[in-house]
Amino acid sequence: MDIKGQAAADQAALWNGPAGRAWVEAQALLDQILKPFEDLLVNAVAVESARRVLDVGCGTGSTTVAVARLIGAQGQCVGVDVSEPMISAARARAEREGTPARFVCADAQTHAFEPASVDLIMSRFGVMFFDDVVQAFANLRRAARAGAACRFVAWRSATENPFMITAERAAAPLLPNLPARRPDAPGQFAFADQRRVQRLLEDSGWTAIEIQPIDAECSLPEKELLPYLTRLGPVGMILPELDETTRAQVIETVRAAFEPFVHGDDVRFTAACWMIGARNGA
Ligand SMILES: C[S@@+](CC[C@H](N)C(=O)[O-])C[C@H]1O[C@@H](n2cnc3c(N)ncnc32)[C@H](O)[C@@H]1O
Repeated sequence: MDIKGQAAADQAALWNGPAGRAWVEAQALLDQILKPFEDLLVNAVAVESARRVLDVGCGTGSTTVAVARLIGAQGQCVGVDVSEPMISAARARAEREGTPARFVCADAQTHAFEPASVDLIMSRFGVMFFDDVVQAFANLRRAARAGAACRFVAWRSATENPFMITAERAAAPLLPNLPARRPDAPGQFAFADQRRVQRLLEDSGWTAIEIQPIDAECSLPEKELLPYLTRLGPVGMILPELDETTRAQVIETVRAAFEPFVHGDDVRFTAACWMIGARNGA
């Protein structure tokens, strides 16, 4: 297997394994934290009057279901995700809520979507994990009808998102083997570089590219901070592998480092992101 093939296999394994499980378990909390971005995407669908929407890397389906609710019986919102456990959770959510969203478990980079079948392609933090971004975005563009729009939310840099890296910074002295984040590699901050994103979209044939910074105020209850830290992110992923003493030390150190974000019963942080928009042709 070449390096790219290995990167794709690693991502699929991650999202079908520990990361997928963590997202399913923390579903309600993550949806609460990321709600401002769901609202932005629902609004984008409304502005475009889109009827056929594709939600890429839809995870447990919060945004897919929200858009399906907006569109109603006049159209359809389909979520695609490479993670079986997350797609199962998404289907259960849609059924629970009685929303006719549809879900496909597939790699969005290569899946044979019906050509020219979609008015708008959206994603909340689900497009930063492709091993070949140009191939993925070209594949998604084939699913888009002429003139269709895309709206993707992605993180700006780690430096601009201190909340997201506080755990690994604090834990670093205790966890020297914590894997370092590699800029531009598939992962949370793969789209941090605006010029790179612009180039990748151009190279995959999208036009009218607009990449706008958005800063959203996010919050979670203080009592949920520890469950969040111990389940998610690079530190959350590695905790189950540690011996009990080290694990307790890491948790104590990391929790203390988050004190600047705690305001009484709330934890608050600013999410520094991009809203990435483009069109398929004129
Ligand atoms: C950070 S999560 C975001 C989930 C969801 N959009 C949300 O906001 O709740 C990233 C999602 O992208 C999915 N993903 C990663 N690589 C993918 C690929 N090649 N094709 C489809 N989905 C992918 C993961 O399985 C995961 O559900």
